Amino acid sequence: MIEDRMIAPEFDIKEDNEVEVSLRPRVLEEYIGQTKVKENMRVYIKAALKRDEPLDHVLLYGPPGLGKTTLAGIIAAELGVNIKVTSGPAIEKPGDLAAILTSLERNDLLFIDEIHRLKKSVEEVLYPALEDFNLDIMIGKGPSARSIRIDLPKFTLVGATTKAGALSGPLRDRFGIIHRLAMYTVEELAQIVLRSARILEIEITKEAAEEIGARSRGTPRIANRLLKRARDFAEIENKNKIDFEVARKTLDRLEIDEFGLDEIDRKILDTMITKFAGRPVGLEAIAASTGEDRDTIEDVYEPYLMQIGFINRTPRGRVATRLAYEHLGVKYNGEG
Ligand code: ADE
Repeated sequence: MIEDRMIAPEFDIKEDNEVEVSLRPRVLEEYIGQTKVKENMRVYIKAALKRDEPLDHVLLYGPPGLGKTTLAGIIAAELGVNIKVTSGPAIEKPGDLAAILTSLERNDLLFIDEIHRLKKSVEEVLYPALEDFNLDIMIGKGPSARSIRIDLPKFTLVGATTKAGALSGPLRDRFGIIHRLAMYTVEELAQIVLRSARILEIEITKEAAEEIGARSRGTPRIANRLLKRARDFAEIENKNKIDFEVARKTLDRLEIDEFGLDEIDRKILDTMITKFAGRPVGLEAIAASTGEDRDTIEDVYEPYLMQIGFINRTPRGRVATRLAYEHLGVKYNGEG
């Protein structure tokens, strides 16, 4: 079941996430970064409120940890409506979706995370709900089966996905507002770390916050996690403050290098450069060779490695760039 303003129990709630929830900004004003998205959303929200209509359906996409769920919560708060949270894989059959949709109140917000993982049969029930706020459901079986139509309250769907490309055309077309969340800059991440430290009542220097920000691979979720680990290191060293030295030590102990790369990033790059000798290589081959999950490589590792210019996608496959070779200290033998 789902509950208002709660993460559905189907979600894998990790310990780190719990703290993160309290670190989550609750209104747009508190939300750092994603300036364009924020400014546009502010306009759409104001206009919807002025017309007393539900906000158009919103699709948020981008790598994990950039604040899609947070933003959905903020949109609901700014609209002054309830939010119900669920996810693509949690909605197993059309009846599950019908139960959720019929529990909504006028102008409510329904958040579906990992919306690309909705089953086709569920997606088909969603189309008329999104378009005309109608629910067509089949009742009965065999010759006596018939379809009944139920009017739904007008609502807003906020869908989130790490794979916009995996969304079916008809589903994508039903979103009036589509935003890609970009990776955060080091300065934005440093600001987020400073804000989180204030909430958690940890003292931290600006230099330390910047160092954590620089090594958080553009992702607030990682920045907040590193902040908590730095707090642990400060604590066992009897320091009442996270200074640059503590931050450095934490990051070194976690084997996160100056680009924010961890052991797995380096393994991926090393595989591409050494095992495949710099030839273009497919995701499947990288996954098989590194023993890492294909989707995790595609959704988590690759976006950042591309962002910092360590990997290029070519029609023949992925290639490591000169920068990646230099970072691993291997002589570059490619083109360009
Ligand atoms: N915590 C996590 N993401 C954040 C953001 N974008 N702004 C402020 N605090 C955050």
